[in-house]
Amino acid sequence: MKRRVAILISGRGSNMAALIRAAAQPDFPAEIAVVISNRGDAAGLQKAAESGIAVEVIESKPFGKDRAGFEAKLQAALDARGIEIICLAGFMRLFTAEFVQHWYGRMLNIHPSLLPSFPGLDPHGQALRAGVKLSGATVHFVIPETDAGPIVMQGAVVVRDDDTPETLSTRILGVEHRIYPEALKLLARDLVRLEGDLCRTTATEQADQVMIWPVVS
Ligand code: GAR
Repeated sequence: MKRRVAILISGRGSNMAALIRAAAQPDFPAEIAVVISNRGDAAGLQKAAESGIAVEVIESKPFGKDRAGFEAKLQAALDARGIEIICLAGFMRLFTAEFVQHWYGRMLNIHPSLLPSFPGLDPHGQALRAGVKLSGATVHFVIPETDAGPIVMQGAVVVRDDDTPETLSTRILGVEHRIYPEALKLLARDLVRLEGDLCRTTATEQADQVMIWPVVS
């Protein structure tokens, strides 16, 4: 049985599209049962609908600071569709600790940095200002703290001297689109387990590549 997934978005939805594409494969262990946006103007909604995925809008703005009120409506929508896993994909609203606790181990997020470095806003600018030579993207389980939680998967890219936040974000986005479906696959196949604050994986492949940057010849 495929695991039933809800993708939560607030904007463009390119990670959502990558997940939808991957889940369209017959052997993918999860199905995208619904895409939910907290904004009616999210560009991703149309993309999801064009892919034949059910979409729902639950506007968060009218709830203001009433996070629990918004979450009650969201939870009802998730329950109505028998959702087992949530993937946050550019979902720009914070949850209460209660909601996060309820979904702990079943809610993933993606962030465009190698966490725990550069959480929060402008991660690409943060990476450039820190002068790191490698950056990347992280898929992690959601905990109450923003852009933190047990790390499921990471992918890295080199950071060039002439990178701008835009060029770096384009390169990292390519990595995001690769690792989010892979991380969801691991979770849906029960190949990850939580040990305290860490996520352990029953990896099926060996990977011993080393990335070194810069390189001179
Ligand atoms: C992605 O880069 C995602 O990693 C980031 O928002 C973007 C959404 O793009 N998320 C965060 O920064 C979470 N703190 P998308 O709508 O095209 O997937």
